[in-house]
Amino acid sequence: MAKQIQIFDTTLRDGEQVPGCKLNTKQKLEIAERLEELGVDVIEAGFPISSPGDFKSVEAIAKKIKNSTVCALSRAVEADIKRAAEALNFAARPRIHTGIGTSDMHIKYKFNSTRDQILERAVSAVKFAKSFVEDVEFYAEDAGRTDNAFLAKVCSAVVKAGATVLNIPDTTGYCLPEEYGAKIAYLKEHVIGVDQVAISTHCHNDLGLATANSIAGVNNGATQIECTMNGIGERAGNCALEEVVMILKHRMGNQFTCDVNTKLLTSTSQMVANKMSMLVQANKAIVGENAFAHSSGIHQDGVIKNRANYEIIDPLDVGLDKSSIVLTARSGRAAIAYTAKEMGFNLYKDQLDIVYDRFIRLADQQKNVGSGELQNLLDQLFPSQVA
Ligand code: KIV
Ligand code: ZN
Repeated sequence: MAKQIQIFDTTLRDGEQVPGCKLNTKQKLEIAERLEELGVDVIEAGFPISSPGDFKSVEAIAKKIKNSTVCALSRAVEADIKRAAEALNFAARPRIHTGIGTSDMHIKYKFNSTRDQILERAVSAVKFAKSFVEDVEFYAEDAGRTDNAFLAKVCSAVVKAGATVLNIPDTTGYCLPEEYGAKIAYLKEHVIGVDQVAISTHCHNDLGLATANSIAGVNNGATQIECTMNGIGERAGNCALEEVVMILKHRMGNQFTCDVNTKLLTSTSQMVANKMSMLVQANKAIVGENAFAHSSGIHQDGVIKNRANYEIIDPLDVGLDKSSIVLTARSGRAAIAYTAKEMGFNLYKDQLDIVYDRFIRLADQQKNVGSGELQNLLDQLFPSQVA
């Protein structure tokens, strides 16, 4: 039977930290409602101690969302945890996410501390969070660069203190997929009590490996993936929700399953991009404008004959109504005939030659030829065929 993977969305927390992406409470609430409809298991709504505005947003989301778990971030600091608990007071399914840096780099240069003191702070934070809510997720910040034996020691101690989820962030996007996968496998083997908790991936994209690392994580025993819509997040961003979900559903469906309704991916991506004023790159996997667009003659001819020649995903599965044929100077006759047919012109071979000749001269002068321009050309050349 396929293993259920929990999708933990942190668009409203890690994603919203990005310069220029800040949202007000109304916008955050609208996105949270959409994420719940999308089917994510956990919505990380914000970092309540960071500002009164973020506290208000987390509180509003906690009041409204009923099906998804609502999670609030805190450092391993009592005031943070208390504030997170207050913001989650009305949540149907509250989760406090608390943690601390565990790499020697963070211990020395961020906390000026020692491994023993960090372990003690981690345990105290989890115990304190546990006094407010049952569901406590612990993050070992910079776990990607943390010594595995020490990481397992911290994780064992926080599980004993009551943590329900162990988040293993590759905070700096440092790991290679085999390293990250091996880290999760090591924790599965060495953390005492690991079978009573979930292991979560939280991978950043500094080397473009966030999605590959998250998949390596689930392949080695993680059952939760932390991700954001469009992969937004600190620096180069987080693992992209739309990518991991489509990988799980499309390529690994016999091993894993998740509850995301993929037909809402495109519209959710656009909603997030618009509200955050953060445009999605055209070639972005799954949700970019060109993800289902074909522009070279060879590809267009193949797609027109059979979509699967050049598409591994049916655009309907992600909420588009079809793929697109873009007319450029690299397009061939097949694309012109196909587009003309869609406009109601069934061109004979000699007619197609005439249109193609005019089209290609026009296309050479500009980036692409819009459907309106092709329509004008057809109207001029064959006025009697105008519908
Ligand atoms: O990247 C990271 O380590 C984080 C933690 C706060 C979970 O975002
Ligand atoms: Zn992060």
